[in-house]
Amino acid sequence: MTTALTQDQLKALVGRAALDYVKPGAIVGVGTGSTVDKFIDALGEALQSDPARVAGAVSSSVRSTQRLEALGIRVLPSESVTSLGVYIDGADEIDHSGYMIKGGGAALTREKIVADLAEQFVCIADESKLVQTLGKFPLPVEVIPMAAAQVIRAFARLGGEGKVREGVITDNGNLIVDVTGLSITQPAQFEADINQIPGVVTVGVFARNRAQVCLLGTPAGVKTLTF
Ligand code: 5RP
Repeated sequence: MTTALTQDQLKALVGRAALDYVKPGAIVGVGTGSTVDKFIDALGEALQSDPARVAGAVSSSVRSTQRLEALGIRVLPSESVTSLGVYIDGADEIDHSGYMIKGGGAALTREKIVADLAEQFVCIADESKLVQTLGKFPLPVEVIPMAAAQVIRAFARLGGEGKVREGVITDNGNLIVDVTGLSITQPAQFEADINQIPGVVTVGVFARNRAQVCLLGTPAGVKTLTF
């Protein structure tokens, strides 16, 4: 008898699979979230048998930094790194072209910065994250606090309904506005347009920094999508 894998087990599966994309001795870019936590766990296990498996990591959040350091992994400031071979991160939604919505964990700005340092973005996700069109997941937008109401009005003109995420201040001291009611059919143009709204720090559409690879956790195992 086979038992279905839980979402947590699917995340662990892709977290382990992502190790194959990290060159021995490299510095790896590390995202944020429950799926990335599994990748960090796998990295910690790999270091036990091979202490030189990675030279260190560049992290996208305080949360991931704490987890990496707890496992004895050196975290380098992103300012000290000019490029990374690979950046591993999860997504809230990913489409069939590798475009993503990210920021469910409020770490989108640092995620975009670290992703931009990397030659390759490997997205790790369970299969529930794969969508035809981005926008069902409320779109996270990091905003300067004084601009929040203005940004919400700008989204209303685009047909979206924005709400400030309660009780959340980002690692950069800003607010997150979550926007529902959008159907993002042209992610690259959308990202460029939203970046023009004053007070928007980062929009959670990752088009310029889309994934080149997605390791998708499915009941049949890890499915690799390349874009
Ligand atoms: C954090 C993110 C995460 O990658 C995204 O929310 C997915 O998280 P999880 O792996 O917990 O489902 O963008 O800002």
